[in-house]
Amino acid sequence: MEKAIFFVPVLILFFTILYYVILRINKNKFHENKSKLPPGSMGWPYIGETLQLYSQSPNVFFSGRQNRFGEIFKTKILGCPCVVLTSPEAVRFVLINQANLFKPTYPKSKEDLIGPWALFFHQNEYHIRLRKLVQASLYPGVIRNLVTDIEDLTVSALDSMANGRVINTFSEMKRLSFEVGILAIFGNLETHYKEELRENYIMVDRGYNSFPTNLPGSPYRRAKKARKRLGEILNSITRERKEQKLPAAGKDLLSCMLNSKTESGETLSEDQIADNIIGVLFAAQDTTASSLTWVVKYLHDNPKLLEAVKAEQMEIYMSNGCGKRPLTWHQTRNMPVTHQVILESLRMASIISFTFREAVTDVEYKGYLIPKGWKVMPLFRNIHANPEFFTDPHKYDPSRFKDTALNPRTFMPFGTGVHACPGNELAKLEMLIMLHHLAPRFRYSTYNRRYYYSYTHSMTRL
Ligand code: HEM
Repeated sequence: MEKAIFFVPVLILFFTILYYVILRINKNKFHENKSKLPPGSMGWPYIGETLQLYSQSPNVFFSGRQNRFGEIFKTKILGCPCVVLTSPEAVRFVLINQANLFKPTYPKSKEDLIGPWALFFHQNEYHIRLRKLVQASLYPGVIRNLVTDIEDLTVSALDSMANGRVINTFSEMKRLSFEVGILAIFGNLETHYKEELRENYIMVDRGYNSFPTNLPGSPYRRAKKARKRLGEILNSITRERKEQKLPAAGKDLLSCMLNSKTESGETLSEDQIADNIIGVLFAAQDTTASSLTWVVKYLHDNPKLLEAVKAEQMEIYMSNGCGKRPLTWHQTRNMPVTHQVILESLRMASIISFTFREAVTDVEYKGYLIPKGWKVMPLFRNIHANPEFFTDPHKYDPSRFKDTALNPRTFMPFGTGVHACPGNELAKLEMLIMLHHLAPRFRYSTYNRRYYYSYTHSMTRL
């Protein structure tokens, strides 16, 4: 006991001295480079400002620092030194103009679950090749052929929701966006494959945000096992497609990947195909489902807007012989009020609030140094909530998008630059089709309103 009384202060003194010595060495290193670090606080040794971030809402944490330090500031989160960027110019600098100086960065545990060949972990040649394939399967010219299938999936999803029970809206929307993702990736896929993929994908999804430990019974370990099975199922589907020699005709993602050959005749491996399928499913599902959940919530909270969307959709419904004829691509392009509602929901909710990159070398921005290896965080949410760019930004007002061209500098719900979302048109199409059926013919009441993923609604057919 006496020994402990002696050693504890000595240890504290030792680590404090060590911390300041490391700080000094780092300072000297940065002085060699003439630029200075951005303003901001690095918080406590190792943990940095992690406790502050987790003890308040991320909005309060980041906005408070933006007000104090300006458009660029430093912080340290989960042991990683970060530079946070909150102006459109700074975001453009990192994601567009100097994108080659910053690489995508994800925790290894997450990369292992998705698969290391997924396009968003890469840059340069491999990324460009895969991105072209993903884009080719998601172009408006391709997805216009999916309208009827998406409509069928939406109608059956709504049918299963509207039986008077209270539903978790986010979970139901996830189910739908999974189905739409499968459609875009495979075209028509046999039901047994769909079921097997769904079962295993759910396990991966559950483990994704859990603590990454391999302890028996842990969600992460179960997710890793499910990920292995997913790979096997995807390999079987891929081999079947190859044997059937169907890919040449298809425009879905799997066909695009099977047809891909470099100039030297190199094709994609089974692992590369599987990792990218899981990557696209992953990028598509939660994002679209949470956007849909927010749209439902905002319309519920704004009865006048709901009436306007209802009126717009009812007119289309009537013109289709009360739904006897299917919705057309052309009609989905002519839903101005519904479209504005979707854009405003994307702005207000800012589903992807920020992204991460890592500096591959020392970079200078406006006289500040972003040291090699530091994380860089462009904050989309703060730009969407900046009164300089959006008047009265906390007011839900879809009419702000009426008759004005979208400004890609300040409106970035789908990101920007080389990694910007290739699925944005599909996501919007899915939301338009959902609102076409949901708004005029269902009444819904909200129960739990604490977090978007716990919003529960009861749907009743009118
Ligand atoms: C409302 C729904 C969606 C939102 C808000 C959204 C948002 C985003 C954002 C912000 C990024 C850029 C991330 C970064 O720069 O680090 C991104 C990338 C991506 N998204 Fe989406 N997304 C949505 C739906 C979809 C859908 C439906 C698909 C596919 C079917 C998809 C596929 C992808 C892929 C593959 C990437 C990575 C692109 C690359 O690295 O080149 N997303 N998404």
